[in-house]
Amino acid sequence: MEKTSNAVLYKPVSLSATVITELMIPSYSNFGGKIHGGIILSLMDKVAYVCAAKHAGNYCVTASIDKVDFLQPVEVGYLVSLLASVNYVGKTSLVVGIKVVSENIKTNEVFHTNTSYFTMVAKDENNQPVQVPGLILEDQVQVRRFLEARSRKEFKSIYKHHAEKDVMPEEEEKWRAMLSGERCRFADK
Ligand SMILES: CC(C)(COP(=O)(O)OP(=O)(O)OC[C@H]1O[C@@H](n2cnc3c(N)ncnc32)[C@H](O)[C@@H]1OP(=O)(O)O)[C@@H](O)C(=O)NCCC(=O)NCCS
Repeated sequence: MEKTSNAVLYKPVSLSATVITELMIPSYSNFGGKIHGGIILSLMDKVAYVCAAKHAGNYCVTASIDKVDFLQPVEVGYLVSLLASVNYVGKTSLVVGIKVVSENIKTNEVFHTNTSYFTMVAKDENNQPVQVPGLILEDQVQVRRFLEARSRKEFKSIYKHHAEKDVMPEEEEKWRAMLSGERCRFADK
């Protein structure tokens, strides 16, 4: 940890890097006998919180998740490990990158389950967003993750601007034409 001349605190990525490992027990399974996606999501939220709160030195909330693709099903009896570190800090928000791997305990085969990025916001005692410490990047991998997170943030704001544009024209024939080729039909009375 170090303080700058203007008393803004900086913390290294390694200070808050967190790993949670959990055994996938039968009660975590879905109807297909694989581990329920919600169990993995809940563990991801937990590790994101620990990592974010350690860096922030404050209570943190989950603002958004980018994004969750389950690349492999997780089997009952596997060990799941969630490796989390702070990738990026803004003013009151920070991005925690989480890599999820599962391991077959019998064979020691390791599978990459998913990688996601949680944006967490630090809150003060009055539940107001509060500034987070700056980040000390300790190697080039951390520099790459920081720049990638900043780029995703910029991309998201362009996407948000685009998504908020009115995509549905007022004229009926126009929106009907836009639906053509899709697997839907309008319920004409
Ligand atoms: C997320 C939340 C704190 C944002 O509050 P807000 O009053 O809109 O705060 P601000 O607009 O000042 O934004 C604060 C920071 O959050 C970031 N932020 C807000 N919404 C965001 C979103 N959807 N995605 C990414 N970042 C977001 C802002 O960019 C800003 O970051 P910065 O300070 O680093 O620049 C607020 O909406 C909240 O408390 N939501 C509920 C969170 C929660 O309960 N999570 C658990 C899920 S059940």
